[in-house]
Amino acid sequence: MASGRENFGSSTAAVLAMAGSAIGLGNIWRFPYMVGSNGGAAYIIVYLLLAIFLSLPILLSETIIGRSTASNTFGAMEKLAPGTRWKWVGLLTIVSPLIILSYYSVVGGWSIEFLWKSVAEGFGETSPELFGGFISRPWAPLVCHTLFLALTAGIVMAGVKSGIEKFNNISMPLLFVLIIVIMVYSISLPGASEGVEYLVKPDFSKLTPSAIASAMGQSFFSLSLGVGTILTYSSYMKKDADILASGFGTAAFDLLFALIAGFAIMPAVFAAGIEPGAGPGLIFETLPYIFGTMVSSWAALGRIVSILFFLTIVVAALTSSISMYEVGAAYLVEERGMSRRKAVALIFCGTWLLGALCSLSFGPLSGFKLFGETIFNFCDKLTSNFLMSFGSMLFVIFVGWKMKKSTVREEITNGGKLKFSSKIFGVVYFFIRYIAPVAILAIFITNLLA
Ligand code: TRP
Repeated sequence: MASGRENFGSSTAAVLAMAGSAIGLGNIWRFPYMVGSNGGAAYIIVYLLLAIFLSLPILLSETIIGRSTASNTFGAMEKLAPGTRWKWVGLLTIVSPLIILSYYSVVGGWSIEFLWKSVAEGFGETSPELFGGFISRPWAPLVCHTLFLALTAGIVMAGVKSGIEKFNNISMPLLFVLIIVIMVYSISLPGASEGVEYLVKPDFSKLTPSAIASAMGQSFFSLSLGVGTILTYSSYMKKDADILASGFGTAAFDLLFALIAGFAIMPAVFAAGIEPGAGPGLIFETLPYIFGTMVSSWAALGRIVSILFFLTIVVAALTSSISMYEVGAAYLVEERGMSRRKAVALIFCGTWLLGALCSLSFGPLSGFKLFGETIFNFCDKLTSNFLMSFGSMLFVIFVGWKMKKSTVREEITNGGKLKFSSKIFGVVYFFIRYIAPVAILAIFITNLLA
């Protein structure tokens, strides 16, 4: 089974792939808003500490399981804990990313439509209703969701090396260049300084327990934790790669991109004299409005920036969606003996259908509620508030309490060859075994009560 398995060509390629999974809609549409509304620099400091002391141990746990077994999530559990109930964890973490993929693809589709609109006609003096009108139509968003999912499927079908690795190697540097260009432009707008202030002014009074819990949730989502994406990607890592360094690299890229995205978006929002809002509203309503008004005052410039911006979103979303897709593909190929083509097709059918329901829940199906939520919101909440922290908890418990300590040490230090990793192993292990499970339980309870 493991023979003939592909690997990422180099450590850099592995880090780029993991950073590609991490950097996505979470960095662009959620992070900037959360920073601003939760205390600016104070929130950034807390977010940074959480990323290092909480998210990193989880990321490392997934990496340890993935790399040591070179298997999909189900196979990994079967190898490390054969015949136990842990295989259910393996199965759960195949289903979760596919649910995320379904609604993520709907948003990816919106981005494609907005990219197309920027290229074809620009936004002109758009009204804020543009977005609401767009997502409630049944057909266009469905077509765009199909297109986004098909692009994702195409890349995954091409394989780990010639599909996923190649796409990430080209896209990741491109994404950084694009977002930096947009940031420079945005900061240079008259009136932008208020937006900069919104992001950096520390206000410690806003750091409530629920703000901290939501920072943890944001960190999990942003680093793609708890649902087997990192596990699956790490299973393609070479045996001589440095797990600690890759983990740090991934988290650092993710944070850097989120910060740059914040400085690309908020100054433009404030320059236009608009109050920043959350989520989809921010990137699909406020920004087109801003780009539209720019077209009249700055002629072609607003149009170009809008094309670059939506291109960034589409590419960032694709590097994430392929990581979710690969989790299921690896399972079907390795455990169910399917050809890659068949596995990709099967996942396409399932996620297309659930995604279509999510898409229609903004229009014709808006009255249909599951536990009081529309289908889209239900899938989002189920995964973000529940499945991701649940999965993360199980992964850290597995590595901290079920796996042999010697195996964990072996993986982190590459059999003692990595000097720095050997030195700090004790600390890392302590965080995985004690700190992470308790902290995750705390967010879990906060989310349940919220
Ligand atoms: N991290 C990505 C983002 O910030 C989304 C993502 C990719 C994800 N894989 C995931 C989220 C797995 C949760 C779980 O947009």
